[in-house]
Amino acid sequence: MKSKKIALITGVSRGIGRAIALQLLSEDFRVVGTYNSNRAEAQTLLEKTTDLELLQCDFSKRSETFSLLEKLSERKFDLLVNNAGIFCTENLDSSDIDIWDKTIEVNLTAPMLLAKKLMPQMPAGSTIVNISSTDSFTGSFNSIAYAASKAALNSLTKSLANIGGKNNVRVVAIAPGWINNTGMNSPVSQEAAALSSLGRNGEPAEIAELVSFLASSKAGFITGTTIVADGGYTNVDYIMKKEAEA
Ligand SMILES: NC(=O)c1ccc[n+]([C@@H]2O[C@H](COP(=O)([O-])OP(=O)(O)OC[C@H]3O[C@@H](n4cnc5c(N)ncnc54)[C@H](OP(=O)(O)O)[C@@H]3O)[C@@H](O)[C@H]2O)c1
Repeated sequence: MKSKKIALITGVSRGIGRAIALQLLSEDFRVVGTYNSNRAEAQTLLEKTTDLELLQCDFSKRSETFSLLEKLSERKFDLLVNNAGIFCTENLDSSDIDIWDKTIEVNLTAPMLLAKKLMPQMPAGSTIVNISSTDSFTGSFNSIAYAASKAALNSLTKSLANIGGKNNVRVVAIAPGWINNTGMNSPVSQEAAALSSLGRNGEPAEIAELVSFLASSKAGFITGTTIVADGGYTNVDYIMKKEAEA
């Protein structure tokens, strides 16, 4: 019988990470998933499978990232999904450097440290998927650290792809647009849906399906790039749309 592949997914307690875990568990994967503060929510995943192992880690604390990597030092993964991320609003004038430091640490430094440590042990044909954001392509107004962290994650993806390529380890980023999640029913989220080509926001499961595809041999020639999954949100120019509707 074919042995199952092993995935490490960060941030499986909720949202997109949870959907990715459920998707991969429904396929031929065993999953090691991390959570930070929502232990009870993460543990509900254990009711559905015996193929999941949960580990707690706060990626804003470098010492915890290193402890996690120490725990995983003997493990070989076929897939690493750097999904855990934080979004904070800030004002550049009165900006709190702690927000910058924490956002960069969780969204960029932790994915880099995980890839740096785990990639050399990944067998040929393995994949790293970094969950970026369409915010990585534009300037921000009050979430500057988030946009910068995701733009740098796209760049990290390219560099890791160059390094992993010689061992046939592919590295790809996904840039989701607006994805329905808890607390995402705000007027601005509904406006984003109306503005996009498809007229709706995405579901976490749609990002999970894309991760599944990118981790498969069907995506064997895709590396070093960022795949946009945004329902056409970044395809619409606001003024052009208004002009057409006028
Ligand atoms: N939702 C969207 O519209 C959207 C759009 C573009 C990109 N993204 C990106 O997609 C990824 C997932 O987003 P989401 O909407 O599913 O987020 P979410 O619902 O807020 O979940 C975030 C996940 O990351 C974990 N996490 C947060 N802070 C952490 C920390 N300091 N250390 C370790 N883990 C931490 C959380 O763990 P706990 O719950 O256990 O604390 C949770 O599992 C993020 O990288 C995000 O930037 C999301």
